[in-house]
This record gives sequence, C-alpha cells and structure tokens, in this order.
Amino acid sequence: MTDIAVTINGKRRPLAGTETNTTALDWLRANGLSGSKEGCAEGECGACAMLLATPAADGGSTWTAVNACLVPVYALDGQEVVTAEGLGTPESMHPVQEKLAGAGGSQCGYCTPGFACSMAGEYYRADRTAPEQPAECDAEHGPNGFDLHALSGNLCRCTGYRPIRDAAYTLGSPDDEDPLRQRLEQPAPAVVATDVEAGGSRFVRPASLAEALRLLRDEPDALLVAGSTDWGVEVNIRGRRAPFAIAIEQLPELRTLSIDDDRIEIGAALTLSEIEKQLDGAVPLLGELLPQFASRLIRNRATIGGNLGTGSPIGDTPPALLALGARLVLVSADGSGSGSGITEREVELSEYFTGYRQTVRRPGELIRAVRIPLPLAGLTAFHKIAKRRFDDISSVAIAFALDIEDGFVTAARIGLGGVAATPLRAYATEAALVGRPWDLDTVREAAAVLGSEGTPMSDHRASSEYRALMLGNALRKLHSTTSVEPKEVPA
Ligand SMILES: Cc1cc2nc3c(=O)[nH]c(=O)nc-3n(C[C@H](O)[C@H](O)[C@H](O)COP(=O)(O)OP(=O)(O)OC[C@H]3O[C@@H](n4cnc5c(N)ncnc54)[C@H](O)[C@@H]3O)c2cc1C
Ligand code: FES
Ligand code: FES
Repeated sequence: MTDIAVTINGKRRPLAGTETNTTALDWLRANGLSGSKEGCAEGECGACAMLLATPAADGGSTWTAVNACLVPVYALDGQEVVTAEGLGTPESMHPVQEKLAGAGGSQCGYCTPGFACSMAGEYYRADRTAPEQPAECDAEHGPNGFDLHALSGNLCRCTGYRPIRDAAYTLGSPDDEDPLRQRLEQPAPAVVATDVEAGGSRFVRPASLAEALRLLRDEPDALLVAGSTDWGVEVNIRGRRAPFAIAIEQLPELRTLSIDDDRIEIGAALTLSEIEKQLDGAVPLLGELLPQFASRLIRNRATIGGNLGTGSPIGDTPPALLALGARLVLVSADGSGSGSGITEREVELSEYFTGYRQTVRRPGELIRAVRIPLPLAGLTAFHKIAKRRFDDISSVAIAFALDIEDGFVTAARIGLGGVAATPLRAYATEAALVGRPWDLDTVREAAAVLGSEGTPMSDHRASSEYRALMLGNALRKLHSTTSVEPKEVPA
C-alpha cells in the first residue's frame, strides 16, 4: 500500500490511508495544496481544475485539464499532476499567471488557480497554431490560436470574462527551456494496477479487461468508475459511497478507436475529447454534438461508455448514436475457463434502454465499445436545447440522420433525448418522412408527428409543451438549412 502514490508538481506523494471515495480535490487540499479551490463540487465551476499528464498521439504527453472535485484520488495512483502551485511562484510566475495578472484577469482570485490550469492546458496544446490571417480568428479563437472552449468549464463571479479572454489571447508559445513543455516530450506515466482497502472500502484498478470482468462477476454490486464525472457528483452532492469500486477508464481494451470499411468502433473508455480528436470530423453528427457536451474540462475526463452506462434519458450521446444506428458491445467474464475468458454480445442501442435508467446490461457486464455502421447518412444534424449554450444538460436533444436522393427521403433515423423515460427512436416520424419529397409540406406534416413522439415531462429544465414544440421546430430548422429541391414524384 505504501507504493500507492501520485506525482504532484514533480514530487511523489503517498496516498496510503486515504478513504477510497476521497476526491482528488479533498486530498490535495488536505495535503496543503490549497490553491485548488472548491466552488461547486459538481464539475460546474472549474475552481478545482488541475493538469494531468495523459498520452499524446506522438508517444509523448499532453497536459490535460480536468476537474479534481470529481476524480477519486486513487484513480491518480502512478499518475502525474500539476496544480496551480506547480505552474509558477510569486517570484517566478508562469506565463499564464503573468498574463492573468497583467490583464486584470483576477480580482478576488478564487477562480484564478482553476483558470490558470485550464489556460495552461491550452497553452501547451501541441496543435495550437495562430491563424495565418488575423481575419481568420472567430469569436471563440484568439489570434494566437487559443481556443476559448478550453475555458468553458471555468466560472468567474467577479472579474468579468473580457480581461480573462484578453490574457488568453495574448499568450505566446512555451519556450524550449520551459520544464512543463519539456516534460511533454516524454511518454505519459504507465498505467499501474491498484488494489487498496481503506476506511472500510476498496478501490481496484485491474490490469486487464479479463481481470476487471472476473472481479465484476464475483462482486456484481461493485461500482464501475470511468471518468467519474457522473459518479463524482453522486459522491459530493448526494453523499453516496462505493464500498467497492472498479476503475476501468485506463483499460487498454476499452481505449481503441478503429475505422473499417463497414463500421467505426469506439472504445467505451475513450474520453469525449479523445473521440473528437481521433475522429477528426469522420462522423459529422458526433462532430456537431461533442463541442456542445458539457465543458472541455468535463469532456477531457467523461467517457462515452459512462454516458451510456448511466442509462440516463437526457444523455447527449444516445440520441446521436440512435440516429447513427449504433450497436453496443457488452462483455462479461466467460465461466468456461478457456480462451480469452471474455464473452461478448452485441446489442442494438435502440434495444438497450428498457426503462428509466434501466438497460439490458446484465450484472457482471460492461460496455466495451460502441459500433457505428458505415456508410453514414448524407444529411445529419444535432440540436441540443438547453438553458446555456455550453456546460449544460439538455432539456431536449434531437439527432437526425437522413438520406435524400433526387429530392426524396430514402432513409431516416431520428434519435430523441429528454422526451421520455429513455432515449428513443422517433419511428413514427421516420415513417412519415421516408418515400416523401423533402419539401415543406412533408416537413410540416412530419414535424406534427415528431411533436407528439415521446411523453415529455415538465421539470425545472422545461415544460412538456416546450419540449414537444422544440421537436417539431428542430425538423423545420433542419429543412430550412438544406436546399434540396424535389424532382419528379416516382411512379
Ligand atoms: C458539469 C457537468 C456537465 C455535464 N454535461 C453533460 C452534457 O452536456 N451531456 C451529457 O450527456 N452528460 C453530461 N454530464 C454527465 C456526464 O459527464 C456524462 O454522463 C459522462 O459521459 C459520464 O462518463 P464518465 O466516464 O465520467 O462516467 P462515470 O461517472 O465514471 O460513470 C457513470 C456511470 O456509468 C457506469 N459506467 C461507466 N463506464 C461504463 C462502461 N464501460 N460500461 C458500463 N457501465 C459504465 C458507471 O458504473 C456509472 O454508473 C455532465 C456532468 C457534469 C458534472
Ligand atoms: S469545485 Fe466546481 S468544478 Fe470542481
Ligand atoms: S476573480 Fe473572483 S471569482 Fe473570479
């Protein structure tokens, strides 16, 4: 147990003795690193942001900003972390700290360490490049290529965002002597297996999928933890504790992405940021959805398997994956004792959800991957209706995947979230579209059908009437953005 340790700001620190449900933020603060602040303890404010050394595609590392308030501290065993204290000191400030101070980007300072960490993550992003022409900057990218989305999970209550943006947009590039830049040339720390019992609970990071499944077979009530962006909220806000947690977010078998002729397979433990980067626009519907999912801080940690594992009716990936006709690969331990020790089955996502937060996933099973069949539909769109543009949960989410040939709808798949106890396919609307010309008459009729799909509820996010109205509006909006004119009506 004494070997269990995390490297913080270059210094190895033992984790032994800490209760296993302790968050990284609580542990940091209890160990004197009080630069990391607690604002909300639910991933909404970014005051707790810290940098984690994660693997980069070139074999080196990336400084990835994540919310310390959500991550179980034992998930950091063997890992390398930088907090605001590790960026710079008052005598020798880090460039992001200098810029924040110089631009007046900090008043009470409570949010500042978190902003500095998120900003530093973007400062060190290897593919951050200044646009060739200043005119190419848009509202969310600076002349230095700084992507403002990097700060979308950080809130400031007193300074105002303009000075913070000014600081971000005037940052240069790290110089060759910068130790944190030099560190990125080395691989990220290897994943280590962890098995710790403390304070009456146990946290295990198995070394392989087969081992994880054996544990889950023997302890079917054990909690699977991936990015912990959902589970961390349960711990902090609802006071839940896992007597036995199995960490799966680093299992190599769950972290591959492949694109073949007939399908794309996405490993369940890839984070949404990793998926966005690795797909690089190959699935336009996901390319549209992912930037709207929470904040960069959350996407840097949240996994696609976790989004499906919750069984939530308001998750953002299910509507899009339903429209894409996705299937899930579920795996469990094979009792035969031969071969890989793993049994695999494939389930249509449209048959996965069975009730409110209920799915066909059996005890002892976990999601290994998501499979998207190819070719993709020609016309896709994702409409997320939420109270805020970024960092918010959907009131309603609608994903369209249509094929339109010669002005006629030849195939349609529509996924809905937030309008029933489960995410669902809008089968009646799909039927109202297929074989019809893609024109205003068809769209008006189909929009009326779409508005009556599901059984939307009224809650603090939206009324049932509003939700139903948004469904039809989404289809009208999709039509208004396409200019396909019908040709001849087929005989
Ligand atoms: C501030 C904030 C904003 C958010 N915004 C959004 C949003 O915009 N859209 C949205 O959809 N969600 C949002 N979420 C919810 C959350 O980020 C997502 O659901 C995320 O994808 C969960 O992934 P995770 O890896 O963090 O899951 P975890 O928290 O680790 O796990 C969640 C659940 O899934 C199970 N699980 C995890 N992996 C697997 C697997 N491979 N197989 C089976 N079960 C598994 C776990 O046992 C657990 O029950 C937000 C959360 C926060 C805190
Ligand atoms: S304390 Fe608010 S995001 Fe962590
Ligand atoms: S400086 Fe006070 S909250 Fe941001």
